[in-house]
Amino acid sequence: MTMRTQVGIVGSGPSGLLLSQILHKAGIESVILERRSRDYVEGRIRAGVIEQGAVDLLTSAGVGERMASQGLVHEGFDIALNGERTRVDLAGLTGGKTVTVYGQTEITKDLINARLDAGGTIIFEAGDVRPEGFEGASPVLSFTQDGARQELHCDFIAGCDGYHGVCRASFPDGEIRSFERVYPFAWLGVLVEAPPPSHELIYCRDTRGFALFSMRSTEVSRSYLQCAPDEDLNEWPDDRVFEELQRRLGDSATVAAGNVLEKSVTPMRSFVAEPLRYGRLFLAGDAGHIVPPTGAKGLNLAASDIYYLSNGLIDYYRNGNEGLLDTYSATALDRVWKAQRFSYYMTTLLHNTGGDGFDDKIKLAELRYTLGSESALESLAENYVGLPY
Ligand code: APR
Ligand code: PHB
Repeated sequence: MTMRTQVGIVGSGPSGLLLSQILHKAGIESVILERRSRDYVEGRIRAGVIEQGAVDLLTSAGVGERMASQGLVHEGFDIALNGERTRVDLAGLTGGKTVTVYGQTEITKDLINARLDAGGTIIFEAGDVRPEGFEGASPVLSFTQDGARQELHCDFIAGCDGYHGVCRASFPDGEIRSFERVYPFAWLGVLVEAPPPSHELIYCRDTRGFALFSMRSTEVSRSYLQCAPDEDLNEWPDDRVFEELQRRLGDSATVAAGNVLEKSVTPMRSFVAEPLRYGRLFLAGDAGHIVPPTGAKGLNLAASDIYYLSNGLIDYYRNGNEGLLDTYSATALDRVWKAQRFSYYMTTLLHNTGGDGFDDKIKLAELRYTLGSESALESLAENYVGLPY
């Protein structure tokens, strides 16, 4: 069977869904092909700190309602160094900017509902998706649905299929270059039915390693512990997780135990592919770049990519201009690399690399300097709330 749309989108994570929704608002048709089931996509637990720019973009795309009522606006967060906490006054340091704590899982559900309510097409469990013909004027996405091979013809392909997707892998040899850093540690994350220790996030650097206390609501906490990339979860019964979280937090607040809803290990990687375009195939979000979660930039970079890409597509369909599509890769990558820098900075600043050598001393000095310097804190806050689009 053959179908036709204007923009063929691979992947129904935040990138693909948001692109489809913004294009729909602008009267441009798209179809999303997603490898997994709807339940799987809606059940994935991901990060949850949303920059103002991403909040504004989601709101203008018509999916801001639940985020506005259930999201928590945060004006600051704490950094703890060996148990001693310093508040980073985001609003005070940035002229009133804030971030919103609202789970990416919820954003995904809101976007899927919005797309389906508006009659949009998301084909879940699309097998063996293959982007073809994108070096010319007639791209095709071929895929398998219920055992039969199908073709989706389109004007453009948006590769929003995450780090392990097929779109980046489809660039011809020599037409894409990767830059990568793999960190020698990971995060053990728990989602717990218990209030967080503080109403704001606490990032901890401790001699025992990094810990982060975040939340999904005032009643559900999300916490992380620095661990080994190959950490065995069987060695981390719930009690041990709570004890270790408390040790790294120190005695300035209490870690509440509760029913553990999810426990997992997240590897830490920085990755950028360049360029983000080949012919009529465009990469956005995790398909083009990965950040370690320390700076909470993953979803926010997906949003800024989609902002630039949707502007390019809208200008093309409305006015016949290809200029913004031509500059998409360079424009998006400029912001991506700045967020990469910040994520690398936050990661290396706050994690314990195990050594007591020179590098570790320098990082400790940098953290102490930052916590005591108004201008260093201003820069940290400016990046944390998000650089402008
Ligand atoms: N065919 C179809 N779909 C695919 C394929 C494929 N070959 N490969 C991957 N996918 C789907 C995945 O199942 C997933 O639903 O693409 C989607 C990609 O979604 P995400 O990984 O969430 O990536 P993105 O939408 O760019 O969102 C970025 O999500 O991973 C976090 O930290 C990241 O917060 C960031 C945000
Ligand atoms: C989260 O709530 O999952 C979270 C928050 C802040 C981060 C990373 C993850 O920096």
